Amino acid sequence: MLSVVPSPVVVRAPSKVNLHLGVGDLRADGYHELTTVFQALSLSDDIELTPASSLSVRVSGEGAGEVPTDRTNLVWQAAVRLAHVAGRAPLVEIAIRKGIPVAGGMAGGSADAAAALVGLNALWEVGLSRDELAAIAAELGSDVPFSLAGGTALGRGRGEKLLPVLSRSTFHWVLALARDGLSTPVVFGELDRLRDHGDPPRLGEPQELLQALASGDPAQLAPLLGNDLQAPALSLRPDLRRTLRAGTTAGALAGLVSGSGPTCAFLCESEQAAIEVAAELSGAGVCRSVRTASGPVPGARILDES
Ligand code: C5P
Repeated sequence: MLSVVPSPVVVRAPSKVNLHLGVGDLRADGYHELTTVFQALSLSDDIELTPASSLSVRVSGEGAGEVPTDRTNLVWQAAVRLAHVAGRAPLVEIAIRKGIPVAGGMAGGSADAAAALVGLNALWEVGLSRDELAAIAAELGSDVPFSLAGGTALGRGRGEKLLPVLSRSTFHWVLALARDGLSTPVVFGELDRLRDHGDPPRLGEPQELLQALASGDPAQLAPLLGNDLQAPALSLRPDLRRTLRAGTTAGALAGLVSGSGPTCAFLCESEQAAIEVAAELSGAGVCRSVRTASGPVPGARILDES
């Protein structure tokens, strides 16, 4: 009998930076109530899904050695959930090509999970809508719904309740990748500790930032960027202060810690300015490596490789 082997499905999913990350109090379920504005960036992961006789995960690229390939990987969990919904066994080989720094505060693991949901929905012809995929995404992790949605969005709740935001132009970023990762729960825990011992300033509501996004002017947006997780990230990794200083000295409009860090993100005036800031930052010896990226870009989407 002739068996037809479907060609692999390749999905690209973006990284993210939080332009505004306001962290409220610790909830009874162990999460913090957030008000955040996400932007999806062109620095991305690709995942390739190939039908197989068992479920397996392979990882290559940026920080591959630190990514688990067992059931603790979110793509594994995404495959098991979607197979359950589809009423089939999760027989697929998942090859992840990492471009997003691991444990870098840029939602790399969430991007892979979102990509797996989109790709397997197509490969297995499950037929779930984007809203149905978003509901599964929210169970997998707080940032997975945004990795699915992409663009620029206001996030509330754990970060999983999303509203699209008007962002009028393309913004240009430089990313300083750090030597070691930071654990998200540890950074949130450090914020709780700092708040127990004092009253660190908290971000207000992001209305002005939303207006600056609508204007499309990076110079208007730059002074409004803010992240309540920056103080705890710097408390755990004081060396990041030097990185942040070096970025603005190199000509960036503003810099901030991305999400829970330790990646630092620098907003630049133009694509050319970003290239120049990246070159100068590379030579400054304040980070492991430097990337340029732009945003907003779409959420997880199937690539046509033909
Ligand atoms: O949702 P996710 O599994 O990505 O979250 C990882 C951890 O980050 C949580 O277990 C929690 O410690 C922390 N977190 C939080 N508040 C949020 C999102 C994440 O405290 N809104």
